[in-house]
Amino acid sequence: MLVNMRELLKDAQKGGYAVGSFSVANMEMVLGVLKAAKELSAPVILQIAEVRLKQSPLELIGPLMVAAAKCAETPVAVHFDHGKTEKMIKTALEAGFTSVMFDGSHLPLEENIEQTKAIASLAAKYGAAVEAEIGCVGGSEDGSEDIAINCTKPDDAVYFAGETGVDALAIAIGNAHGNYKSEPKLRFDILEECAKRVAAPLVLHGGTGISPDDFRRCAKTGIKKINIATATFDAVEKSVRDCYNEEKISGYYDLQGAEVEGAYQNARRHILIFGTENKA
Ligand code: 13P
Repeated sequence: MLVNMRELLKDAQKGGYAVGSFSVANMEMVLGVLKAAKELSAPVILQIAEVRLKQSPLELIGPLMVAAAKCAETPVAVHFDHGKTEKMIKTALEAGFTSVMFDGSHLPLEENIEQTKAIASLAAKYGAAVEAEIGCVGGSEDGSEDIAINCTKPDDAVYFAGETGVDALAIAIGNAHGNYKSEPKLRFDILEECAKRVAAPLVLHGGTGISPDDFRRCAKTGIKKINIATATFDAVEKSVRDCYNEEKISGYYDLQGAEVEGAYQNARRHILIFGTENKA
């Protein structure tokens, strides 16, 4: 069933786990993620970032994501990731997305606050939840920009959360989008301080390549939503390649099945690490 991310993250706060937010680019990825969610009886979030809309137009994939969530037997929130423009955030809200992120992380603090508040009042008209970002997660969602990591200052996080009242706050603790060039070293000291002083659920972007132990530690320390994008796309691509190499594909629907399987295996692995199994 289609649910609001706000409720999923509140339950995660009570239960001491994190909810996986899986980026999708087509129907096969949606089917794979929801297959894993159903099998493990797990709540999940389906998301797509604004920068990906050139490949997957929002007017097409948005209604598909919302319809898939409505048909699902487990709770599924549909989220607009890294919203940059009010126009596209509004399109996502019109399509029925139950939460939107406004990414003003590159803006000066006061401007980020002001623009986040404007998006929050827009989202409120739709009853949708809002995520924002403070500090700067490394890289951009699609790898097109080389954004440097700028770790969140806990004082800024406290001030930002108080001023905006956002439902979820993405923080930067050494995490980055895409595949890490070297092993990520997360700043758990920053995470601990933010978790202690910010009541809103915290969000970890750049999930691909973070170790299971670090994921578990994050989930126990205030991180309630974990974004996984590159790992989904890589898993789908690898699954297709392996099936071709093993001569398992002899027609289009074998190819389609290989895509669904890649997304399913990736979502399944992360759901088990995040502790979301049987939390639906
Ligand atoms: P990865 O591509 O590193 O998994 O990051 C996902 C993300 O944070 C999307 O917002």
